[in-house]
Amino acid sequence: MDSSSILRGKSKKKTSLSALAPYLLLCITLFSITFFLFPQNSLNSINDHNVLYVEPQPNFKDCDLSKGQWIPEERGSLYSNSTCPTIPDSKNCLKHGRPNRDFLFWRWKPEGCKLPSFNPKAFLDLVRGKEMNFIGDSVARNHMESLLCLLSMEETPKDIYKDAEDRNRIWYFRDHDFTLSTSWTKFLVAGFERTRANKTGTGIYDIDVDKIDEQWAKDLPNTDIAIVSAGHWFFRPIYIHRGDETIGCIFCNLPNMTQISLKEGFKLVFSAAFKHINGCHNCKDNLVAVLRTYSPSHFENGTWNTGGACGRTIPLRVNDINQKSSDMEIRRSQIEQLEEIKRVSLIKRKFAVLDVTRVMLMRPDGHPNSYWGNKWMKGFNDCTHWCLPGPIDAWSEVLMALLRQLW
Ligand SMILES: *[C@@H]1O[C@H](CO)[C@@H](O)[C@H](O)[C@H]1NC(C)=O
Ligand SMILES: *[C@@H]1O[C@H](CO)[C@@H](O)[C@H](O)[C@H]1NC(C)=O
Ligand SMILES: *[C@@H]1O[C@H](CO)[C@@H](O)[C@H](O)[C@H]1NC(C)=O
Ligand SMILES: *[C@@H]1O[C@H](CO)[C@@H](O)[C@H](O)[C@H]1NC(C)=O
Repeated sequence: MDSSSILRGKSKKKTSLSALAPYLLLCITLFSITFFLFPQNSLNSINDHNVLYVEPQPNFKDCDLSKGQWIPEERGSLYSNSTCPTIPDSKNCLKHGRPNRDFLFWRWKPEGCKLPSFNPKAFLDLVRGKEMNFIGDSVARNHMESLLCLLSMEETPKDIYKDAEDRNRIWYFRDHDFTLSTSWTKFLVAGFERTRANKTGTGIYDIDVDKIDEQWAKDLPNTDIAIVSAGHWFFRPIYIHRGDETIGCIFCNLPNMTQISLKEGFKLVFSAAFKHINGCHNCKDNLVAVLRTYSPSHFENGTWNTGGACGRTIPLRVNDINQKSSDMEIRRSQIEQLEEIKRVSLIKRKFAVLDVTRVMLMRPDGHPNSYWGNKWMKGFNDCTHWCLPGPIDAWSEVLMALLRQLW
């Protein structure tokens, strides 16, 4: 729908031009405001304003779903710890005594378009017969668990696979023939921790950007929708190799070794992952790969192991967040690699970006903090993962809008 269809609609009712004059005047005013304030962006802004005049038919193509505000939502979360039996204990913040529930009463509102609230039935209908695979670390898993709770409102899924370490999982929604799974990986590419003679870990890793991590490489050919993410394992000494050649090291500080910045490290890894997906010969023709951008942590007054905490109880506003933070830089280097693959490649696979970084920078109130039942790690707060229910549930709302755009 665009403004011409509104005009047509109006003329059917034989409205005279003079009755339209106020609207035209408003349009012209909006045009001049947006043109002079945001000259580069003026076309998008005008489209956004048109949305005001039409039925709330979501027209996401004209709208950046990652730009907006968290606005109050009286209804609260769609599920609770009593309606969703699969919430992992460590994300069940209310069970572990989180006193403040205000974090449940917000919804993500993108600028200039209406994001419908999550509809489990519509989602399951959209993905009927398909397999969705979350590729990544425990934050990817966190997202999958959130989607699982949301979809369980419509159909109880069957737990069909769990490995010994409970890292790779498969759930099946029989009525909709939909498979939801996770493929655990820390770095997307192959990575191993260096161990001491007595087999204890050193916290130092070697990764090989020429070799995709085994589990997800193996799972990819069955996948219709791959949600790809990585991030939180990179903040440590990591030697980066390309086959037999050692390229350098992140956070090593060795005089005899090339230092690689975190940003450069992400480039190497994401470029390798997207190349693999794009060139995957035995994958499905209509495979869709979604980059879920970096999910920020919110440790304040210290880091995760020096008493840092995240005790805030309400979201930040967009002007309160640092748009140039290192989180946003990581996001940018991830997106750039995806754009690069799309630019240079002849094979045109479908890629999309689930851009959550800015959205979640505004939610320092959404983490478990000390309420995660941490028996053996008392004193350590979790300001990286997200409570369930909680603001991470919005990721699936945005994901659904993205999938609608692609199909
Ligand atoms: C759900 O949260 C409440 C606190 O709001 C807690 O008392 C209860 O034990 C929790 N139930 C489950 C099943 O986790
Ligand atoms: C293993 O060796 C390291 C140093 O070599 C030592 O600090 C650590 O305590 C040892 N751990 C065990 C479980 O023996
Ligand atoms: C760099 O120096 C460290 C110790 O200073 C040594 O263990 C390592 O083998 C050296 N690496 C290379 C590539 O020379
Ligand atoms: C950090 O410290 C300041 C000053 O002591 C305090 O006001 C604030 O609440 C602390 N932040 C968190 C998240 O605990």
